[in-house]
Amino acid sequence: MINLAILISGRGSNMKSILQAHKSGELEGINEIIVVSNKVDAPGLEVAKKEFGANTIIIRPGESKQEFENNLIHELQYNNFLKNDGLICLAGFMRILSPEFVNLYKNRIVNIHPSLLPSFKGLNAQKQALLAGVKVTGCTVHLVDVGIDSGPIILQKCVPVFDTDTEVTLSQRILIEEHKIYVKALKLLATNKLVIKENRVFQI
Ligand code: GAR
Repeated sequence: MINLAILISGRGSNMKSILQAHKSGELEGINEIIVVSNKVDAPGLEVAKKEFGANTIIIRPGESKQEFENNLIHELQYNNFLKNDGLICLAGFMRILSPEFVNLYKNRIVNIHPSLLPSFKGLNAQKQALLAGVKVTGCTVHLVDVGIDSGPIILQKCVPVFDTDTEVTLSQRILIEEHKIYVKALKLLATNKLVIKENRVFQI
């Protein structure tokens, strides 16, 4: 059994669906979950505490990226996250992690992004999809490497783009699928059902 740290900066709807799955016993292989926020007022913190009684931690920005990440590492270790063991999942966590941090937790950090990567990396992926005029977009769960929204892809789900879509309606349709594939990917990781070979991830 491993521990999971969910890193958030905002509303935390992906966090909520992961906590919900854990509560209902769906996330086999995952023991404890802690929620870490870099924002004192992230709405997700209240959801984690009040609805799930989760252990929440706030890490303030600090003087530098290094100070922030040292504090994060300290908290993870204090909560029994060993380097090669626990999982870290980014769920709307709006900070770029340094290559040193990513390499310390190599293949143990997972991210979700609201597009079919490698298309539409970065901010406002749904708006980028609308501006590009694509007819299909979606979401991706991937392991985090030193790039932005890059790393071996675990799962993807397609979502249609309708002529009537706005950024809001498209984001809502994608989010429904995000909640499903994030839980599914974490389950696969936590139960050792994945093999990573270079940039590809295979289910066994
Ligand atoms: C989600 O749509 C997630 O895919 C996106 O932020 C949102 C967070 O929502 N992440 C990225 O764009 C990462 N590059 P949530 O706080 O409700 O989970």
